[in-house]
Amino acid sequence: MNLYTFLSIGYDLLDKIWLSEKGRNPRDVIEELIPNEKCKVLDLCCGTFTNGLFIAKKNPKNLVVGLDRSEPMLREGRRKIDKAGISNVELMCLDATKTGIEEESFDYAIIGLVLHECNPELWKSILAETRRILKPNGRIIILEWERPDNLKQRIKFAPLYITEVLCNPGYFKEFYQADKTDFFKGYGFETEQRIGCNYTTVLSLKKREL
Ligand SMILES: C[S@@+](CC[C@H](N)C(=O)[O-])C[C@H]1O[C@@H](n2cnc3c(N)ncnc32)[C@H](O)[C@@H]1O
Repeated sequence: MNLYTFLSIGYDLLDKIWLSEKGRNPRDVIEELIPNEKCKVLDLCCGTFTNGLFIAKKNPKNLVVGLDRSEPMLREGRRKIDKAGISNVELMCLDATKTGIEEESFDYAIIGLVLHECNPELWKSILAETRRILKPNGRIIILEWERPDNLKQRIKFAPLYITEVLCNPGYFKEFYQADKTDFFKGYGFETEQRIGCNYTTVLSLKKREL
């Protein structure tokens, strides 16, 4: 049992309160980065499958696989899939550091709102596993918190920021403040696009030679 056993029911409020306000919703930006072609998309640490669901609904030709280690979060994801009535999806209860998924088998991998909760060992193992699963020309799409520019948004973001600092005292600030291009370069990825969104940023990364 972990934090997400309790958070699974209310987790999607996060989208309602912060991500969907007037401006650019990162979930929309992510779905726009993935074309409606016959390709495989992996939503790593998918939680309640919000990113995966947006993509699967927009792109019926994609196969979208969601993976998370929390069964309660996946249960919420399954409920949303049933409600949407879509079939180009699959959910798996697995650890993102050791998935057992075939090497170079996915075209896209999404890691949304996960890395700020990790420590250096987890950054290394999740990103190494993602690199292994991704096809040579594949792309990783990262969604992460970003300090808002205007004061009104900073005030609205404050309770979430404080919660994240308290829940992830070790490395949240280090990751939040890091230059993300340099950060991902250190794990074998080159930043191709960076798109500022509500309280967040979306990055599209490709593999670089090691
Ligand atoms: C903040 S939620 C993000 C959910 C979703 N990706 C989103 O964009 O809203 C973090 C999720 O990562 C999952 N998670 C954390 N570490 C994991 C690991 N090693 N393997 C699989 N899932 C993990 C948690 O169970 C939780 O559902």
